[in-house]
Amino acid sequence: MTRASVHLESGERIEFWAQGPGRITIGIRDQTVWQIPALSAVPASYSYHHREASETTFEWDDTVTVFWAYSYVPATVAAVGITMWDFSTAGIMRRHGEELSNWMRCDEERPSLHFSPPKNWMNDPNGLCKIGDTWHVFYQFHPCGNDWGPMHWGHATSKDLFNWLHLPVFLHPEQELWRLGATGGAFSGTAFEGKNGQHVFFYTERLPAYDLFTGYREVQKLAIPDRNTIKAECVTSIIEERPKGVYHDFRDPKVWWDDAAGGYRMVLGASLDGDPAVLLYGSVDLSEWTYLGPLYRAPKEYAEAGARAIECPDFFPLNGKWILLMGFVGLTEASTGRHNLLYALVGNFVNDAFIPESVELQVLDFGTDFYALQSFRAEDRQIAFAWLFNWEYRKTAVSPYSGELSLPRQLCLDERNRLSMRIAEEFETAVRKEILTPDRDDGYAIGKYPFEARLSGPLEGTTIKASDANRLSFELTVRDGMISVRLEQDDGSIRYAARLDTADDIRVIYDAGIVEVFADGGRVCGTRRSYANTSPDHIRISSLAKVTVSALHLAEPIFGA
Ligand code: FRU
Repeated sequence: MTRASVHLESGERIEFWAQGPGRITIGIRDQTVWQIPALSAVPASYSYHHREASETTFEWDDTVTVFWAYSYVPATVAAVGITMWDFSTAGIMRRHGEELSNWMRCDEERPSLHFSPPKNWMNDPNGLCKIGDTWHVFYQFHPCGNDWGPMHWGHATSKDLFNWLHLPVFLHPEQELWRLGATGGAFSGTAFEGKNGQHVFFYTERLPAYDLFTGYREVQKLAIPDRNTIKAECVTSIIEERPKGVYHDFRDPKVWWDDAAGGYRMVLGASLDGDPAVLLYGSVDLSEWTYLGPLYRAPKEYAEAGARAIECPDFFPLNGKWILLMGFVGLTEASTGRHNLLYALVGNFVNDAFIPESVELQVLDFGTDFYALQSFRAEDRQIAFAWLFNWEYRKTAVSPYSGELSLPRQLCLDERNRLSMRIAEEFETAVRKEILTPDRDDGYAIGKYPFEARLSGPLEGTTIKASDANRLSFELTVRDGMISVRLEQDDGSIRYAARLDTADDIRVIYDAGIVEVFADGGRVCGTRRSYANTSPDHIRISSLAKVTVSALHLAEPIFGA
């Protein structure tokens, strides 16, 4: 039995995910006020609401495992964030604000410029929006481990897109899935700002599922949050029936008001009689939805190459065109061996029909550790984040968490109407740069900090090699007009490469295993996430281009409003 005493505020709430079979007891002045005599033998979620400020004792026995725990006072949490709790045989350790940030920063394996959850598994970014002066990121979250599992929505906010305040879990699965021995839960979705300025969230619930690949049921839901956007307060199912030809994959809604149609529109990722497809729905009130037909259906060769469905479709206007972004789950590209590819199509949207300018899909990221991209409109910009993962490599070391988001990006069209991505301008103020001087061999000592390399001018023949004690971390090369990135662990069976047009500018950001490459003004982007040899201390750049290398440091976090 472990016993710990902590001070709790009046109104403080503790939410935690734990597994038994043991007991956990909360007491005030030796009086039990809350107890679970036997925690469930599978993970479950619990919450305790403290009513008066007092010293409080917690007692739990050795068979209790707490996977994720935090506390907060509802009235102040939007401004100050959660306090993370760690239960161990040494007692309870609580971390808040700067202490929580410092604890996250102490993990040398954790990228510092990229968003990651304090603990446990994260995948897709969800519900991206800006409310007032605050950016919101929600994300697919499994609170009970470092692997994908019953999905919740984690939540964090920021004033500058780089420093994040961690908030309570926003959405739970509708069922206690662990107890059912099932997966599923609150899957991906997006934010929608109504005409009254209120933000609501559309998402998919995968109902209790007993097979990862077939036979599951997915329904669409609408979540209305409380005043401070801390908890989904009212959740309703809005689409339960699947159209003909759609059997199980039917998810990831994105909603917009469509001026031309004079109504609301929604896209969903799906599989239509086996072909990856994007489906279009219409509504006049956001709650009754009618199926309008497929917006896009992939040619047969995609299903033949393994694509089971489209995930996380994004559809939005940009510079007079409409852009359709799609993830093809299951697809392996025959010519390169790459999988987890994200594609874009640029076209027009007329009378509820999408007419692409070219049938050829634009590969959005040649590195492929860049998936489930979600974009949203704010301040007249199309901002986006993606999840940096592609199931090829996993963290080998014991780590408190898994999953990061890309740097915030701004989406644009180039002069030939191809989609390009650049780092959002907030980078310039949130990140301090310290320009490094090269040694005689064009090498730079980077001292294990994140760094940026910018090259402008002729790139043919360029190599950038980052290493630690002669072990390669990554290597970028430009040869015969192709750019490619290789990690130490690559065996060459998959080719991560793209053709350059102008080949006269490259920007590379490296952050503890994450390599983000922007070339040709952002038209060619490549992202790799390595979990091996993630702290190179030296880079060598051989190029005819002008080279600038800078060490990068996050400017001080901003806490509170
Ligand atoms: C993409 C995805 C989505 C789904 C979510 C589940 O990575 O598979 O299609 O909503 O993740 O976590």
